[in-house]
Amino acid sequence: MPGEIRVQEVMEPFDGLVPAMAGLVRQLSRSSPPPSAAEVEEIVGSPASHLLLATDADETIVGMLTLAIFRIPTGLRAWIEDVVVDERARGRGVGAALTNAAIRLAREHGARTVDLTSRPSREAANRLYQPLGFAARETNVYRFEGPAPTG
Ligand SMILES: CC(C)(COP(=O)(O)OP(=O)(O)OC[C@H]1O[C@@H](n2cnc3c(N)ncnc32)[C@H](O)[C@@H]1OP(=O)(O)O)[C@@H](O)C(=O)NCCC(=O)NCCS
Repeated sequence: MPGEIRVQEVMEPFDGLVPAMAGLVRQLSRSSPPPSAAEVEEIVGSPASHLLLATDADETIVGMLTLAIFRIPTGLRAWIEDVVVDERARGRGVGAALTNAAIRLAREHGARTVDLTSRPSREAANRLYQPLGFAARETNVYRFEGPAPTG
């Protein structure tokens, strides 16, 4: 039930956070290793990244989302990244609760818009975001993965 789900920003690392995040990262990406304790500390300590955790009635961590907020010349940008809900807790509104909390937090920080990307193959994710008010934008998304150019 969505009523049992609580979403909160992590303000400092706590026991159990790193393994819980590792379990969630495994369900999000096959290629990315889970973040180390130092990396989790960096995420939590940075003013540019806001880690939101969803917990259920017995305080089990059931999902996470990271909201990146940074200023660029044209304004304050807010990006939702790495949304993942534990397989055992899906379909109960956890993803929606995390996303809505991220939108509220972005607005509190002064961001007018919130961006995210989701591969078309992520069907559940694409069905999650549109009813929450996200509209597809016409843009090309590029990624550079090669070695750094020389010279
Ligand atoms: C995408 C994901 C975060 C959704 O989390 P969730 O807690 O199950 O989603 P919710 O229960 O909040 O669902 C909200 C809405 O999304 C849609 N939805 C979610 N999962 C769905 C599914 N498997 N099939 C169809 N619709 C789905 C529904 O419309 C649902 O609305 P409803 O409750 O009115 O039916 C979860 O499936 C997940 O972690 N997937 C793997 C990682 C991933 O793809 N992350 C997104 C990266 S962009």
